[in-house]
Amino acid sequence: MSASPASSSEAPGLAGRTAVVTGAAGGIGRACSLRLAAAGARVRAVDMDTEGLADLVAFADKTADKTARPSGTVEAYALDLTDLDEAERAAEGADILVNNAGIQLVRPIEDFPPEVFSRVLTVMLEAPFRLVRGALPGMYERGWGRIVNISSVHGLRASAYKSAYVAAKHGLEGLSKVAALEGAPHGVTSNCVNPGYVRTPLVERQIADQAAAHGISAERVVSEVLLADAAVKRLVEPEEVAEAVAYLCGPHSSFITGASLSMDGGWTAH
Ligand SMILES: NC(=O)c1ccc[n+]([C@@H]2O[C@H](COP(=O)([O-])OP(=O)(O)OC[C@H]3O[C@@H](n4cnc5c(N)ncnc54)[C@H](O)[C@@H]3O)[C@@H](O)[C@H]2O)c1
Repeated sequence: MSASPASSSEAPGLAGRTAVVTGAAGGIGRACSLRLAAAGARVRAVDMDTEGLADLVAFADKTADKTARPSGTVEAYALDLTDLDEAERAAEGADILVNNAGIQLVRPIEDFPPEVFSRVLTVMLEAPFRLVRGALPGMYERGWGRIVNISSVHGLRASAYKSAYVAAKHGLEGLSKVAALEGAPHGVTSNCVNPGYVRTPLVERQIADQAAAHGISAERVVSEVLLADAAVKRLVEPEEVAEAVAYLCGPHSSFITGASLSMDGGWTAH
C-alpha cells in the first residue's frame, strides 16, 4: 500500500532518502511521516495499527501535491515492534530512522504490573536499539544517516506514577548518545526530540488515567497536572514536533548530534 505525500511549501530536500517512522499510525508518527514525505522521502510507515496506517496512506494520497517533483511516498508496514527480529529487519535500507512508537501506563510503582513494565521497555527501548542496529550498516555504507528518537520531557525529568515510561525514555537518551558517538565518523547523526505534552490520542488517554489517579476532572488534569511545570500553558501540536524532526534530517543540522531538543514550553528551564 503506498501513496504520495501531503503538500508542503518546502523544497523536496529528502528526495531519494528512505525514512522509517515507527508508531506512524498515531499522532506524532503520523505527522512525521507526512512531513518527511512532503520533503520528498520514501516513508516506510511502521505500526501495528493497520487501520491507522491505511488511513494515513489514504490521507497522504488525498493531500498529495502532484506538482512537487520529485515527490515522496508513504508506504504502510504493519508490524508489532515487540517482534524484535522483525523490528531490526524493518529498518534495513533506512537513511532516516524516526523511533517514535510509544505506550504509557500511569500507576504507582507498587501497583505497576511487571509485565507492562517489560512491554514498555521492549517497545520503547529494545525495539529502538534493534531498529538502529538494523539501519546502521546501510547508513555506514552510504556515509549518511539521520536517527531521530522521539524522547520526551520525561527523558530528562521524572514524574510520579510513570516508572516504566520515564525509565524507557531515560534509556533512549543514552542509546541516542551512544549512536551519535559511533555514527559520527560515518556521517550519521543521532538526536532526541523532547516534547512536553502533545495533542495526541496517547495524551487524551493519559488525561483520563490521571483524572482517575488524582480524583479530579479532566480539565483540572490539563491545567494543574500536565501543564503545572510548563511556562507556556498549551499542548504542543504533532506538526510542531514533525517540523523539529524534519529540521534534524535536513541540510542545516549535520553538526547537531548527541543532542536533546526540548520542546516543552520551558518545563526543563526550572
Ligand atoms: N503525546 C505526548 O504528549 C508525548 C510527549 C512526549 C513524547 N511523546 C512520545 O511520542 C511518541 C508518540 O506518541 P503519540 O502521543 O503520538 O502516541 P500515540 O498513541 O498517538 O501513537 C503511538 C503509536 O505507536 C504505535 N505502537 C504502540 N505500540 C506498538 C507496537 N508494539 N508495535 C508497533 N506500533 C506500536 C501505536 O499503534 C500508535 O499508532 C511516543 O514515543 C511518546 O512517548 C509523546
